[in-house]
Amino acid sequence: MKDVKDLSPLEAAAELADLAKKIAAADNAYYQNDAPDLTDAEYDALKHRNTAIEAMFPDLVRADSPSKRVGAAVQSKFNKIEHRFPMLSLGDVFSIAEVEDFVLGVKRFLNMAEDIDFMAEPKIDGLSFAARYEKGTFVSGATRGDGIVGEDITENLKTLKQLPLLLPAGVPEVLEVRGEVYMAKRDFLALNERNAAEKKKLFANPRNAAAGSLRQLNPKITAERKLSLWAYTWGEVSERQWNTQEEFFAKLKEWGFPVNPLNKVCHSLKEIEDNFKHITEIRAELPYDIDGVVYKVNSLDLQNRLGFLTRTPRWAIAHKFPAEQALTRINDIRIQVGRTGALTPVADLEPVNVGGVLVSHATLHNEDEIKRKDIRVGDMVVVQRAGDVIPQVVEVKFDKRPADSVPFEFPVICPECGAHAIREEDEAIRRCTGGLTCPAQAKERIKHFVSKEAFDIVGLGDKVVEAFYDDGIIKHPADIFTLEKRNGGAGDDLFSFGDEGLHLERRAGWGKLSVDNLFKAINARRTISLPRFIYALGISQVGSATALLLAQNYGTFDALQAEMSARETAKLVAIDGIGGEMGNDIVEFFNEQHNISEINKLREYVNVEEFVDERRTDSELSGKTVVFTGTLEKMTRLEAKALAQKCGAKVAGSVSAHTDYVIVGADAGSKAKKAAELGIKILTEAEFMEMAKK
Ligand code: IVH
Repeated sequence: MKDVKDLSPLEAAAELADLAKKIAAADNAYYQNDAPDLTDAEYDALKHRNTAIEAMFPDLVRADSPSKRVGAAVQSKFNKIEHRFPMLSLGDVFSIAEVEDFVLGVKRFLNMAEDIDFMAEPKIDGLSFAARYEKGTFVSGATRGDGIVGEDITENLKTLKQLPLLLPAGVPEVLEVRGEVYMAKRDFLALNERNAAEKKKLFANPRNAAAGSLRQLNPKITAERKLSLWAYTWGEVSERQWNTQEEFFAKLKEWGFPVNPLNKVCHSLKEIEDNFKHITEIRAELPYDIDGVVYKVNSLDLQNRLGFLTRTPRWAIAHKFPAEQALTRINDIRIQVGRTGALTPVADLEPVNVGGVLVSHATLHNEDEIKRKDIRVGDMVVVQRAGDVIPQVVEVKFDKRPADSVPFEFPVICPECGAHAIREEDEAIRRCTGGLTCPAQAKERIKHFVSKEAFDIVGLGDKVVEAFYDDGIIKHPADIFTLEKRNGGAGDDLFSFGDEGLHLERRAGWGKLSVDNLFKAINARRTISLPRFIYALGISQVGSATALLLAQNYGTFDALQAEMSARETAKLVAIDGIGGEMGNDIVEFFNEQHNISEINKLREYVNVEEFVDERRTDSELSGKTVVFTGTLEKMTRLEAKALAQKCGAKVAGSVSAHTDYVIVGADAGSKAKKAAELGIKILTEAEFMEMAKK
């Protein structure tokens, strides 16, 4: 090979083109199959050569140069597509009684006594997609991803014969059709047979096979797999030409989309129940897997009035089939120690197939649950799983209990660190008192910190976190952000690796490429949104919804921390959705020295963004605290509350000096009186609606 300085510009350009191609091909092989076709050294040599030539001939740097591609790869193998409207999920229920509650809740919200029409649709067990059409032409396709950002599967979707690429005249200029891609049972079996014959990987179920086939970097593979689809909803639409879900289905059919013939409008709860029975009966004979029935309020006017909860619409619900059960033996009962020190008993089971999934563990919840059900090692038990929930032990078969069985004794010391495990009065859970000196707690906290809804650092999976913790590489979340610095050369006070560096690339299972990708993934998170940061801290009881509430109410991390460390809780406890106990946990968290030093250390490396509230701020109501009283006429109380919140107002239950407006309906009582006494502005329902419109 010629020395770089001896290359002519023409030769350099040709070689850069060649390198771009080779490196792209290597990336592809690596990311697509998790099986690189070059060694790390060969790959590095190509990248080096590319860099050297580019340094010598900066004018020749290509638009598709490998040096320009930073970070994309490890986070996702696909380009990302941000959904113009989030792809939401649905609330789950498992019984007709709960469906009834849902229907009644809808009616109550709308203040309607008469029956409402629901569209009942089989819930397809596949993977949802969004297909975007502009001027009737298919332009892009995406997976659901996390609901906000999905993966670009445009080319893959094009290979699905059932997806129309051109729509007839008259369709909305912008139209995003959403639905489910699935693999028919027969096609799934055939694919697995073929894979078995070729000694290739087998898929566990049709859903996995569909996902594995659609999410292929090489669309040719997608094309070889038999995938089908049903369309059932929409995303962005420039002009909506339908007023009910039923009319939408008619349009979809007209435009050439497959629409499930089992979709059916139900006019009453009785019809909903009959339909569910019917679908349950024919389920096994259907050529594809379904896992329940979805109910959607048919009228879009009513849907709009109902609106959304945080992640799910208020106008739809999924009625899942009952859990599937199987009989097996408990081989052992282990105690897991969680992030907050909770000791959770887990049953190790003789592996058993429950509805197509191999189950080898079940949660036993807590000490009392084991006592109540008298669950023992060696017992034969009925286990069940439903949806994505962790399998559970439903009952013990006492007649099959071995003669020498003994009751299970719950440990009172932490099996991980030996500290006392104590159980507060009124608490169901026993906790290890070891805090962060308990390796199990420390590890779980790091796992939580890097998890999807927190820092979402791809490449730091559970196994990696455990190994890095055990080897002293990451003991605290903040250590993640010094990894790169510690890897190469100079050590750091915390870890005396001297000039040696960690050299993660020398660890088994790692190489230069994967280490670089890990660093890229970490570096991409040095700026983080406020809700993610709060959630990542792992404050007891603070899930992602609460983290969002805190972000919305405090705006910046500094503001939150200042009030919490000063134990100023007036604002905190006034937040709808944060109860006294949770508030307590939050304040205590910010008053523990080790948490503060961890936060301080983290913030040396991480920039926490200010929270930009997407709720309206331009409304006269935004930032105001309002109280409703009396009977409203144009809308129900729930609707009024949702409308006020949408305008950025906080809805309180009682009138106080903090109240800005009291909205009075008919027969308003003491609250209106109190408002008058306190000199708080009183609005009629009409005035409130007028204000909300602006
Ligand atoms: S509607 C806002 N309809 O179930 C409503 N979803 O738990 C959005 N699914 O992510 C979904 N069949 O993947 C809808 N007929 C159907 C469905 C369906 C299957 C899946 C879909 C969604 C999940 C929600």
